[in-house]
Amino acid sequence: MTILCTPSQPSDELLAAVGTGVLTAPTLSRAQELVEQLPGEPLVVIGPEVGFADAAGFATTLRLTRPLVGVVVIRPELDVETYAHAMQAGIRELVATADLPGLADACRRSRRLSESILLPVDATADSEGKVITIFSAKGGCGKTTLATNLAVALHADGARRVCLVDLDLAFGDVAISLQLEPRRTLVDAVGMGENMDTTGVAGLLTSFRPGLECVLAPVEPGDAEKVPATVIDDLLEMLRGMFDYVVVDTPPQFNEHVLRALDGSDHHVLLTTPDLAAMKNLRLTLDMLDLLSYPRATRSIVLNREDNRVGITAADVEQALRSKLAARIPNNLEVAASFNRGVPITAEKPSHRVSAAIREFGVQRIDRLQTAEAPAVKGQRRRWLTIGARSGDDA
Ligand SMILES: Nc1ncnc2c1ncn2[C@@H]1O[C@H](COP(=O)(O)OP(=O)(O)O)[C@@H](O)[C@H]1O
Ligand SMILES: [Mg+2]
Repeated sequence: MTILCTPSQPSDELLAAVGTGVLTAPTLSRAQELVEQLPGEPLVVIGPEVGFADAAGFATTLRLTRPLVGVVVIRPELDVETYAHAMQAGIRELVATADLPGLADACRRSRRLSESILLPVDATADSEGKVITIFSAKGGCGKTTLATNLAVALHADGARRVCLVDLDLAFGDVAISLQLEPRRTLVDAVGMGENMDTTGVAGLLTSFRPGLECVLAPVEPGDAEKVPATVIDDLLEMLRGMFDYVVVDTPPQFNEHVLRALDGSDHHVLLTTPDLAAMKNLRLTLDMLDLLSYPRATRSIVLNREDNRVGITAADVEQALRSKLAARIPNNLEVAASFNRGVPITAEKPSHRVSAAIREFGVQRIDRLQTAEAPAVKGQRRRWLTIGARSGDDA
């Protein structure tokens, strides 16, 4: 159900863009009454005649009382300042008056978002979602490939709600690999500060499929530096409450954002390829994680691009890493071809052996994760990280 708030008689074109089953409200207080009376989580579209400050105030109140109700605001003109205020108020989308196709898209996105967040959760499942961070200290090992494909595998055509977070802030390629337009990115989380909530976080999401949402990396040069690492703690905690699985893709280095993601995760997936440089880097990573006292049970080591022509076998990798492999993903040209087409191979070719390997890893290992670590342990490490970061700042 959609409520269109406008004091004037809406045109047929405007009504058609907003969708079917539209109720009109001449004032915001009437719109508020309708929100309270209607079942479900309606979408509220606020027309350009309503003052922006009033529209923002309406959205701010709703985000506290009904965080899953979407608010889309039409404005005669859009500028950066209005966007910033809209984001802070919890307005999901801003659209220019003349942009009726844009309005139709914004309404569709907002409805899909409310629906995907409201998908019924398996009653027997843990109500808290699990956060999985995928890491390798060497670039090109397949982190983004595994993150996108694992997200698709866990989503399983809508069986679970999954959020994929691109923490490769400077060079993230989740958007390009899923052919998503990064209209909203992690940089939009910056203004939320302490007030991050479900509505604000919902406004950051870009949908790949209903129930498979992404938090994309910033795109403008310089935006990556604007994202403080503390945002990651709050974001992951919020997403954990909204999704069954949160899959975090990372850059190939241990920066503070990555350390916080590792700390806020239930499970670490560590990747290597069958080459000496990647294996050496993974050995160092494992030592580092041991040093940070992450229990070994909370990690999976995955060999990607396994290929019996390169002279390093899975057994060699296990021996060098002194650890068992949790999964082996074959090297196959189809992976890169799918990646380039913007559809992960698990979605495009579910019966391909690479898809089968990733799905089996998702189902056998990730979907059976043990309960998260005791919070006290995490708290200690977080303090350690903060002290480390502060001394880093001083240097
Ligand atoms: N199992 C695989 N078989 C073949 N190519 C792969 C495989 N996994 C990843 N690739 C390719 O390797 C390249 C790097 O992968 P990517 O996921 O971007 O790595 P990272 O995110 O770790 O830098 C991409 O072109 C990707 O298509
Ligand atoms: Mg990557």
